[in-house]
Amino acid sequence: MKYFKIITVLVFLVANQISAQEKLTKEERLEWFKDAKLGVFIHWGYYGVKGIGESWSMYHKRISYDDYMAQGKEFTAKNYDPEAWAKLFKKIGARYAVLTTKHHDGVALWDTKFSHLNVLEKTPAKRDLVAPFVAALRKENLKVGLYYSLIDWSHPDYDVVFPRPNTRKNYPQKKQNQLSPWQRFLKFNNGQLKELSDTFKPDLFWFDGDWEKSSEQWRAQSLKDSLLTWNPKVVVNSRLKTYGDYSTPEQGIPVVRPDGAWEFCMTMNDNWGYFPSDTNYKPKSQIIRTFVEVIASGGNLLLNIGPKPDGTIAKEQVERLEALGDWIRKHETAVFNSKAGLPYGHFYGPTMLNKDETKIYLALFDAPKNYISLKGIQNKVKSIKVVGSNQELSFERNGGAAWNNIPGILRIEIPQEKNLDPNVTIIEVELEDALKLYRGHGNAVELNK
Ligand code: GLC
Repeated sequence: MKYFKIITVLVFLVANQISAQEKLTKEERLEWFKDAKLGVFIHWGYYGVKGIGESWSMYHKRISYDDYMAQGKEFTAKNYDPEAWAKLFKKIGARYAVLTTKHHDGVALWDTKFSHLNVLEKTPAKRDLVAPFVAALRKENLKVGLYYSLIDWSHPDYDVVFPRPNTRKNYPQKKQNQLSPWQRFLKFNNGQLKELSDTFKPDLFWFDGDWEKSSEQWRAQSLKDSLLTWNPKVVVNSRLKTYGDYSTPEQGIPVVRPDGAWEFCMTMNDNWGYFPSDTNYKPKSQIIRTFVEVIASGGNLLLNIGPKPDGTIAKEQVERLEALGDWIRKHETAVFNSKAGLPYGHFYGPTMLNKDETKIYLALFDAPKNYISLKGIQNKVKSIKVVGSNQELSFERNGGAAWNNIPGILRIEIPQEKNLDPNVTIIEVELEDALKLYRGHGNAVELNK
């Protein structure tokens, strides 16, 4: 009887613990994500062998299905060093990375029991490439993101718009006559997702391809429920119809600040995968500016690399990661202790605020002339300095009518040329107390001093 009571209490405690975990709110799940600032997106797959478009080259009939899949024979991963990747990501200040575990082409980078179309069985790599990636990220204390395309252009139960041979032999799934082809496909997708979730416990699932079917067809709501049951802390991007946790603008930086948590994903050249003939790389300064614009609007930048089939990262891409990392290291306080900045109208450029809103960080993309101007700040200013060099800048408040709560402008001395950063200079404005903004349209000063 006594034992029975103890067991009942234990069962109750464990059950409580589980339901407490399940009850994490979206905001709680997003906590790490909202402060992450930088993630590295990794598109690694067969397409790097010929240097063609990831999966889409097949869809657009630029290559036949068989020729596309034949690339697998040269997907060696022979110099794959996930620990070096993770160290590099850590060094540049990234807090997470997202790897394509399965793109629209259906090729799995992990040891899946649901299809033979995986790198262990079809490529000279002959091993699970996701497992060591996850282990390496964890070792560096980075969050693990797994990209998974809901679309599968290889699965025989998934209709495609290009000629494709019979691929049934790649899928060990039993016929299950009572299921329709689509139900069978969903079972397959669910199986792979549960496998990924149970094996790797990702912090983030990055879905793609939801546009090909409706929310009902994907059973999006029940999929989201399952993901949270399997792994109550997981964060899900927006491409699960309306069931994502944050929005995912892609390639074009948002002009208006998005609502809620968000992440901007961007390629370094014009392609996601390794594409050596595409040399249209964005200059380092553009990548750094973009990063600043994104964090100033409260988002994260998910910057893409496309490793070669042997697992090495092209020099142009490493250089860009390093350049961003150097800039971040120099401006760490403004990056990691900050959140979205002032609303539009106070400063001509991106800004960030520290968490308790006693510091404003002003980003200068170009060398300033005459003076730097900041408008509508009610607070007294303690000090102003250049982040990195620590040069103190003098300042003067001009105009306004403080006794009527109409602040004038703050005229800030421009930094010495040697203290201007070659990419983006950050000026730290320290206030006496938490930010009080003037957001008025201006009115007559009724009471004169
Ligand atoms: C688009 C493309 C896909 C790519 C993804 C990255 O959805 O279809 O190929 O992987 O963008 O965000």
